Amino acid sequence: MSGDQTGQSTSVYSFGETDLAAERLRVVSEVFDPTSEAFVSESVRVRPRLALDLGCGPGFTTRLLSRITRPERTVGMDRSEAFLRRARASSAGREDYVAADVTAVPLRIAGIGERPDLIYARFLAPHLPQPEQAISEWAKELEAGGLLLVEEVDSISTEVAAFDEYLKIVSEVLAQHGNELFVGARLATTRRDDDLRIEVNRAAEVLPSTGQAARMFSMNLPNWRHDPYVDATYPPDKLTWLAAELDGLTHVAQTGQIVWQMRQISLRRHPA
Ligand SMILES: C[S@@+](CC[C@H](N)C(=O)[O-])C[C@H]1O[C@@H](n2cnc3c(N)ncnc32)[C@H](O)[C@@H]1O
Repeated sequence: MSGDQTGQSTSVYSFGETDLAAERLRVVSEVFDPTSEAFVSESVRVRPRLALDLGCGPGFTTRLLSRITRPERTVGMDRSEAFLRRARASSAGREDYVAADVTAVPLRIAGIGERPDLIYARFLAPHLPQPEQAISEWAKELEAGGLLLVEEVDSISTEVAAFDEYLKIVSEVLAQHGNELFVGARLATTRRDDDLRIEVNRAAEVLPSTGQAARMFSMNLPNWRHDPYVDATYPPDKLTWLAAELDGLTHVAQTGQIVWQMRQISLRRHPA
């Protein structure tokens, strides 16, 4: 399903691969891992043989998968060499990492002839040109009876004006690349192939502190601040205001001012 095979546009990752981007994913891990761990441990009832973490970034989700499900082999896949270097440095040898574009299927894993029995992807779909198609293609790679777990954002509600403004601009930037920030709600209603059984399709609430949300947002702002669409649409003053507002909130410990609804989907490929 690479761009040339299907006519898909190439996927664009709008959120950067720098030290700051990796630090942002550390805060993402701090905020979202407890909900992900509950979802994964509830869904995976048999020790996997081969678990794949697609769009693994610096490896937080790969280590989560390895820790919670104890696969015989765990492989993280990402196309960012910078993130993969970090992932390898933190893995203590328990996980393998391969560079690959996850929209190019069949997924090529050097040296592995077997099919995975667990595939996991978190916060990847908004960066893919056709997430529904990608999910359907990944599911075909599973061994019979295998599981595909996906976690994406349904919605984010907030009473903080700066958070609202930030989310509006990020949604617009992703839309410029044909992507959708709140793709979870769309995935929730996608019709599934006949050889897949939906085991879980639910929204889980995540309540970070205001400071955690502000840190995630302020670390992401430099990645899109000079996007051509943003340059053409928002005056520099407005972005300076937004950056200052977010910075001012980074130490607020209060929770409840911003709430994520996470879509958790578990699909099982029918046994042979
Ligand atoms: C927001 S990060 C999520 C990282 C991790 N799953 C987590 O939840 O912490 C998205 C990751 O997807 C990767 N990515 C985006 N498009 C990709 C593609 N087409 N093939 C492989 N990796 C991709 C990016 O490089 C980035 O590391």
